[in-house]
Amino acid sequence: MTDSFRVGLLGHGTVGGAFDTLLSERADAIAAATGRRPELAGVLTRSRGSFDDILESSDAVVELIGGIEPARTYALRALEAGKPVVTANKQLLSQHGDELFAGARASGTQLRYEAAVAGVVPVIRVMRESFAGAHIEKVHGIVNGTTNYILSEMARTGASYGDSLSRAQELGYAEADPTEDVTGKDAAAKMAILARLAFQAGVTLDQVPFEGIEAITADDIDYAKELGLVLKLLGVAERRDGRVSVRVFPCFLYGGHPLASVVGPFNAVTLESPAITEVTLSGPGAGGPQTASAVLGDVVSVMTTPGMDLEATEQVELIPSDEVESAFYLHLEVADEPGVLAQIARILGDNGVSVKSVVQKGIGENARLVMVVHAVAEGRFNAAVAEIGELELLRAPPRSIRVIEEEFVS
Ligand SMILES: NC(=O)c1ccc[n+]([C@@H]2O[C@H](COP(=O)([O-])OP(=O)(O)OC[C@H]3O[C@@H](n4cnc5c(N)ncnc54)[C@H](OP(=O)(O)O)[C@@H]3O)[C@@H](O)[C@H]2O)c1
Repeated sequence: MTDSFRVGLLGHGTVGGAFDTLLSERADAIAAATGRRPELAGVLTRSRGSFDDILESSDAVVELIGGIEPARTYALRALEAGKPVVTANKQLLSQHGDELFAGARASGTQLRYEAAVAGVVPVIRVMRESFAGAHIEKVHGIVNGTTNYILSEMARTGASYGDSLSRAQELGYAEADPTEDVTGKDAAAKMAILARLAFQAGVTLDQVPFEGIEAITADDIDYAKELGLVLKLLGVAERRDGRVSVRVFPCFLYGGHPLASVVGPFNAVTLESPAITEVTLSGPGAGGPQTASAVLGDVVSVMTTPGMDLEATEQVELIPSDEVESAFYLHLEVADEPGVLAQIARILGDNGVSVKSVVQKGIGENARLVMVVHAVAEGRFNAAVAEIGELELLRAPPRSIRVIEEEFVS
């Protein structure tokens, strides 16, 4: 008779319910492959089950409640009891990662969390296992499907941000309260988790500056098209000279960039290291069955790879935003008078900002200058924009969006 592997399931909502279904469907195949048959030891929701009973009778605990409490307490208690924990909870990992990983190490057990970042895209496994020997220098990507859908719709149809958000809500790609997604906070939590793994760094959500997409206009996307640019909400984590920068911001990419072609509610993460050059993984970023599949993959890993969690955490210095270098798109509404461009060029030059390309649109009161400037310390660029903002010839406040400068040949 096949031994059983008993899974305590905390939460039975979108992902928990899908996990329950998938576990029943796949139990025979997993038993045939591993020699142990996974089955539920119990289910906890607000209205059913007892955590103590479930913990007692489980070989591993799957946490799919979400949020901080009681998920944190349950996960810590399971780890203390030496039971492996599988979770999809980005909030918990990005805010309490240190104590959870310490708990796993203290009792020699595992904490697995593939589904917490980029849904079913196996970026955590690839970083932990396949690239364990590579020194990862940079992780960047599209880690929020809701905002990627909205930006893709704006570019495809010319619709406003508000209309594209409504469409995303109708299709179930955005929640009734989309705040965490559209402000960039959801992506920031995921980037804190990726940075911890990539750099063994104790990065937490509150150390990740994030900007969202609520202020993006159809005009920005339209003008940038003429410069060959596509807008994405990017998470970027990178090492520079022993320090680390982790941020989330809307950003223009040239059309040939591997992330530019990722459209709709999809996620994609690019890993860079001298040993691997560059690898991009992409796929569905959310959804009950997809996320449940990633969770079940972690459960099978726990069944077949016993042992303790090796993830170590060091303190690292974060690079202040002003010192990080970025290229920018700059949109200026100006009076069409002689010498306008010369004045703006002087201010940019005085601040060490050099212009890569310029498009001039319209005449008279509503002339627009749309330019891309080369990478420069953000503090210097912001100083130049503040100075330009004081000019009388300006008809509206300057608008700027970061640009990834690399122009890939596709
Ligand atoms: N949905 C996705 O596509 C997706 C994608 C990636 C990651 N995730 C992550 O997966 C996790 C679960 O998300 P979800 O969408 O499945 O959430 P959900 O649909 O809201 O389900 C949450 C479940 O947790 C239970 N629960 C809530 N508070 C509880 C408490 N105090 N004690 C016991 N049970 C409690 C709920 O019980 P009741 O049934 O009694 O309400 C419900 O069964 C979250 O961490 C989320 O970030 C979700």
